[in-house]
Amino acid sequence: MSQALIEIDGLKKYFPITGGILQRTVGNVRAVDGVSFTINKGESFGLVGESGCGKSTIGRTILRLLEKTEGKVIFNGQDIHTLSKEKMRALRPKMQIVFQDPFSSLNPRIKVGEAIGEALIDHGLVNRRELKDRVIETLEICGLAAYHYDRYPHEFSGG
Ligand SMILES: Nc1ncnc2c1ncn2[C@@H]1O[C@H](COP(=O)(O)OP(=O)(O)O)[C@@H](O)[C@H]1O
Ligand SMILES: [Mg+2]
Repeated sequence: MSQALIEIDGLKKYFPITGGILQRTVGNVRAVDGVSFTINKGESFGLVGESGCGKSTIGRTILRLLEKTEGKVIFNGQDIHTLSKEKMRALRPKMQIVFQDPFSSLNPRIKVGEAIGEALIDHGLVNRRELKDRVIETLEICGLAAYHYDRYPHEFSGG
């Protein structure tokens, strides 16, 4: 039997529009306005629509990179928008967006090895002594090599 991994129920995300010298809220961009769907474990799910229809906003709100306006996001049976900061942090390594454009998702001034290492340290997945070996192992799993550790994002070819 299939099991739900992500259940979205009536999800809404509005962005306020401010105006006037007091920058008061004068309206809302209703980027996501009542979306519901379920993704089962092991399933791939495609969300298609014209540019600006709210796909990225749905993704960001599911991961709680944005706070929702209304609705529910259930991940593995938990309503993630009700979790504490600590519980949310513990869940972070289990959910991830892979952004399309590497130049807006990677810090141009941080070497690739350091960027990978920062995430491992931040989530307590490795100690400092093992760090470099783990980063190199990760690079190799992704088809890169140890010498890529010291490269900056712009020093990679697009291929
Ligand atoms: N941070 C934001 N502040 C205000 N409006 C936003 C913000 N992010 C997205 N929007 C608006 O929400 C709508 C949906 O955008 P988006 O989710 O990026 O669409 P898609 O990914 O489908 O192209 C667009 O009208 C966009 O301008
Ligand atoms: Mg988008």
